[in-house]
Amino acid sequence: MAVVVLAALCSFALASSPSSHAWDSLNNSVDGRLYHARPVEASCFSIFDGSPQATDSTACATVRSSYLDAYYRADSFPIYQQAQSSMCLSDPSDQCLLDNADGAPAPLPAANATCSQGSIPPHYIDVRAAEDVSAAFEFASKYGVGLSVKNSGHDYLMRNDGKGTFNLWTRNLRNMSYDAAFVPSGCASTFYHATHGKRAITVGGGVNFDEVYTFAHANNFTYIGGYASTVAASGGWLQAGGHSTLSPVYGLGADRVLQFKVVTPDGLLRTANECHNPDLYWALRGGGGGTFGVVVESTSLVESAIPIAVASISIPKNATKASQMQWLELMVDSSLEWAQEGWGGHISQVSLVNMNPLLDLAAAKASMQNAITLALSLGGKANVTVVPSWWEVYQGFVVPGEATTGGTARFLNSRLTPRKMFESAAGRSSILAYLDQVLDFPAAVYVPFTTPFLWQGDPASTSVNPAWYTSLWHTAMHVDIAWNSTYDDRVSALTKLTNLTRAAEAMTGLAGGTYMNEANPFTQNWKQDFWGTNYDRLLEIKKKYDPKGLLECWKCIGFEDEDMHDDRYKCHGKMQQTIDHALL
Ligand SMILES: Cc1cc2nc3c(=O)[nH]c(=O)nc-3n(C[C@H](O)[C@H](O)[C@H](O)COP(=O)(O)OP(=O)(O)OC[C@H]3O[C@@H](n4cnc5c(N)ncnc54)[C@H](O)[C@@H]3O)c2cc1C
Ligand SMILES: *[C@@H]1O[C@H](CO)[C@@H](O)[C@H](O)[C@H]1NC(C)=O
Ligand SMILES: *[C@@H]1O[C@H](CO)[C@@H](O)[C@H](O)[C@H]1NC(C)=O
Ligand SMILES: *[C@@H]1O[C@H](CO)[C@@H](O)[C@H](O)[C@H]1NC(C)=O
Ligand SMILES: *[C@@H]1O[C@H](CO)[C@@H](O)[C@H](O)[C@H]1NC(C)=O
Ligand SMILES: *[C@@H]1O[C@H](CO)[C@@H](O)[C@H](O)[C@H]1NC(C)=O
Ligand SMILES: *[C@@H]1O[C@H](CO)[C@@H](O)[C@H](O)[C@H]1NC(C)=O
Ligand SMILES: *[C@@H]1O[C@H](CO)[C@@H](O)[C@H](O)[C@H]1NC(C)=O
Ligand SMILES: *[C@@H]1O[C@H](CO)[C@@H](O)[C@H](O)[C@H]1NC(C)=O
Repeated sequence: MAVVVLAALCSFALASSPSSHAWDSLNNSVDGRLYHARPVEASCFSIFDGSPQATDSTACATVRSSYLDAYYRADSFPIYQQAQSSMCLSDPSDQCLLDNADGAPAPLPAANATCSQGSIPPHYIDVRAAEDVSAAFEFASKYGVGLSVKNSGHDYLMRNDGKGTFNLWTRNLRNMSYDAAFVPSGCASTFYHATHGKRAITVGGGVNFDEVYTFAHANNFTYIGGYASTVAASGGWLQAGGHSTLSPVYGLGADRVLQFKVVTPDGLLRTANECHNPDLYWALRGGGGGTFGVVVESTSLVESAIPIAVASISIPKNATKASQMQWLELMVDSSLEWAQEGWGGHISQVSLVNMNPLLDLAAAKASMQNAITLALSLGGKANVTVVPSWWEVYQGFVVPGEATTGGTARFLNSRLTPRKMFESAAGRSSILAYLDQVLDFPAAVYVPFTTPFLWQGDPASTSVNPAWYTSLWHTAMHVDIAWNSTYDDRVSALTKLTNLTRAAEAMTGLAGGTYMNEANPFTQNWKQDFWGTNYDRLLEIKKKYDPKGLLECWKCIGFEDEDMHDDRYKCHGKMQQTIDHALL
């Protein structure tokens, strides 16, 4: 142990910070795609990082008019979807944000607002090829510069940023292709026990769902993906699990991925599938983004274009708490039967939008009758239809439902809730007692009803928390923190959230788990919650492919609690320590 520590210290001591010549030479090897980054909002401020500067009214006008647009945030490097990735959470003076209150276009910088770098990486490469990533790993290894990876920038856990880090921005890996008979490379042509391969789509590391759904529609097939336009299909979504409202029937993204092309920290472009590097393939199927390598493309199974029954049922938004609990009780009582029939969707305290690729209109209406009756009796609305394909679901429900929270820091708390709890009266009442606590928080209940309930795959083939395969609901909620909140406001909101995370853990015990992508970043029992019994094996694979720890992120495989004291994590570490102290 002592020898290992010494060796690590020595290699760190040998690393010197890169000279400008070293940066220039790196820039040459990535064809000039190395950039300095500062917050896009900086153009609106006359002082940046303490020094006076000229404002740029044209650039500032663009930032302001685009401020709430998720596409703008996904397509520009130095701005993220969630403000916690830009701001330094533990130091409100270290950020550069515009006032986004009430979802209005951002006005000019508020009086007294300051502008500093925050957590935005000061350098990044606009990655266009695997070689760019190899060059970055070599550079990071030589100079000891911490790396981070950003794709769409949607992550809620600040795993896509990092104060002082050097970022690999993968958004511009945009290739896409369809293969009617895909066989994983290196596998025999009869690998799938037939003369033909499987129908599959290959998507570059930065392609988002809007692009995949458009391509799938044009080519008449269905891609099982997330409920958002700008989340990336090969990035954090896929590598941490990836749920869809069709997952109850068709599995998680991690269940459906057949192959990755990934640059590992040794700089090699590797193929990971059942025949090549199967341990890496398994780790990328749930072990989390930004951990084992940089994925330059993934290939996933697709389905035929299929009609989908959609039920959109709601009670009035201003329903009393008693009515909301009555609605939630019906949701808890009905979900097991719904899941057995193939439904998945999203449930709140006043609504459901469920979908089902197995039922026709009459069967769908009959199945939803109890919910329709209750909703109408409470003055609500119900609409059950059958649409020709996922494309109409995407256009009709996903896109109109998207609300960007640009500039707001949004924090989630969630729990995979075992099906066994839905099978007993005692289990159902524990769930309702927890939901009651969420409403009193006060917060909205949000349940992705998206576990791979009917999926027939082998749970051991992915590395997501095994609780995914024995759960029925992914029971979630969120809190938002204002752009200009004080440190004390932040501590108080996040301590309260973390206390609720503990209540969620207590509700299910170890039979439940937490989806790492929609978890509270201050989750204390994170190794167990995010990966359950898969954690130890994932850590072995991490050490095999990234022995120098070139890729690291907050509460990713390889992270240890003492790392919260590192400079790199000082923006979240102080917050974690304060919360841990408050919740001793
Ligand atoms: C509006 C919204 C809707 C969502 N809907 C869903 C949903 O329906 N289903 C669901 O399961 N989740 C959903 N999520 C959660 C989403 O899966 C996570 O936020 C996820 O981390 C986003 O991944 P990304 O690559 O798009 O984003 P980023 O924030 O850019 O990256 C996320 C993580 O993955 C790493 N990463 C990204 N790209 C790569 C790569 N090419 N190689 C290696 N590492 C990489 C990053 O380092 C980071 O750790 C939603 C989130 C939001 C904000
Ligand atoms: C990298 O090179 C390009 C092209 O020469 C240049 O535009 C860019 O500013 C350089 N990046 C850095 C960080 O110097
Ligand atoms: C934050 O800004 C809003 C205006 O958007 C203002 O009403 C509020 O008082 C500010 N809060 C703090 C803590 O400064
Ligand atoms: C700005 O700061 C000054 C000095 O601290 C204070 O007097 C003033 O009220 C502040 N203005 C706003 C809008 O917060
Ligand atoms: C994208 O596709 C083109 C054409 O097939 C190919 O030359 C290029 O290498 C691909 N890029 C990546 C990053 O895979
Ligand atoms: C699309 O695929 C479906 C299901 O396989 C098929 O019934 C339909 O005819 C196809 N449509 C077109 C335009 O090819
Ligand atoms: C909800 O709003 C409607 C329409 O504004 C109103 O008629 C109704 O009384 C309200 N219900 C409650 C419980 O406040
Ligand atoms: C029901 O939903 C469909 C889309 O699925 C929509 O076209 C239709 O207008 C809706 N009907 C009502 C009454 O809202
Ligand atoms: C934590 O939640 C419990 C209820 O589950 C409550 O009694 C307690 O006061 C909370 N503590 C804090 C610090 O919020």
